[in-house]
Amino acid sequence: MNKIKVMSFFGTRPEAIKMVSVIKAIEKCPDIAGSVCLSGQHREMLSQVLKAFAVKADHDLKIMKPGQTVTTITSGVLEGMEELFRAEKPDLILVHGDTTTAFAGALAGFYAGVPIGHVEAGLRTYDKYSPYPEEMNRCLISRLADLHFAPTPSNRANLEREATAGRIFVTGNTVIDALQTTVQAGYQFRDPMLAQIDLDAGRVILVTAHRRENWGEPLRRICRAIRRIVEENPDVQVVYPVHLNPAIRSVAEEELGGVGRIHLIAPLDVFDMHNLMARCYLVMTDSGGLQEEAPALGKPVLVLRTETERPEAVEYGTVKMAGIEEEQIRSMANELLRDPVVYNRMAQAVNPYGDGRAAERIVGAILYHFGRGEKPREFQV
Ligand code: UD1
Ligand code: UDP
Repeated sequence: MNKIKVMSFFGTRPEAIKMVSVIKAIEKCPDIAGSVCLSGQHREMLSQVLKAFAVKADHDLKIMKPGQTVTTITSGVLEGMEELFRAEKPDLILVHGDTTTAFAGALAGFYAGVPIGHVEAGLRTYDKYSPYPEEMNRCLISRLADLHFAPTPSNRANLEREATAGRIFVTGNTVIDALQTTVQAGYQFRDPMLAQIDLDAGRVILVTAHRRENWGEPLRRICRAIRRIVEENPDVQVVYPVHLNPAIRSVAEEELGGVGRIHLIAPLDVFDMHNLMARCYLVMTDSGGLQEEAPALGKPVLVLRTETERPEAVEYGTVKMAGIEEEQIRSMANELLRDPVVYNRMAQAVNPYGDGRAAERIVGAILYHFGRGEKPREFQV
């Protein structure tokens, strides 16, 4: 029997981190011939992940440009994929999440008549412009996809409410698969700047921010809040691996550069990042992935946004929405830093997002879809 040809397509750091376990599970499956195709929407931040997990790409569209827009990303992917689909003729393309690479990859698959599998399907804020453009990207991918791999039962319920066509499988989130391989006892940091920071010198707040809707003034307010939190709590230090986007770097450096006990460092490789998260006191972020990882590690999260598509850990109490206003962010962080009761209530390890076996279920569902296996048992919280 011919092998099923499955092309994994992605282009940014978080997609890579969350697709690695799927790629590895496909490699082990004798019925599937896997290939890896990159859009190259990210360059250095993507290479970091591929290197850390020893993943080799078969194709790279290399579309990244400084100052790229959602339009240039979309057109670059559509043009590149048309040619590649003609040459490769996959039976299925897998896209991940809500980036413009993922949306354009799914659209290119649809144009070429290639069935589409969507990993991390069904997350919603129901606000068209927040997060922008991710909310609309993932809604549109749901309309295009044939197979929907929903991390949680509530993600499935979102898809069912929208009467989404195609098959839905609840798999857990592949980020938990990744986390189970990266976090190690006695881990030694590889990044030279991180290795120099004395993490025992004070409680560590791990900060990241990159969302498009936070560019400009909201990011400035977030940075000012962080500065005040550090000034008001002498035993606190901040480690902030800054995204390579110049729009983020310039504001972070202007507002926080040279401030005592604030370490602005380059993006960390995923092993360093996950192990730093495991050792920090508190996470403050506008990232999607960190909202899933930190609760699994028992770290409270303040989300620097006004909404989230990941309500599960908010319901469990490990994640709180801190918004994008300086005073609210400052007061919520200070409460957590000063009130052990509030802190301990939040610092519970909860794992509503997965059990480390999402990739195995995704591969099982692909085999089932192509008539080569039993329906996999779904992830239950
Ligand atoms: C993208 C995704 C976002 C995802 C995020 C993860 C879209 C529209 N946005 O946003 O959903 O959460 O990735 O990080 O798909 N850059 C580099 N090197 C890199 C990566 C980026 O120099 O390795 C710089 C480039 O100047 C690039 C800019 O960052 O133009 C912005 O990158 P882009 O992918 O457009 O936006 P992100 O904010 O990273
Ligand atoms: N991450 C990383 N190094 C960093 C910052 C983040 O490896 O310096 C990881 C993080 O642990 C998570 C993913 O990148 O797995 C999240 O990526 P990002 O915040 O860029 O995107 P989002 O999840 O918001 O789409």
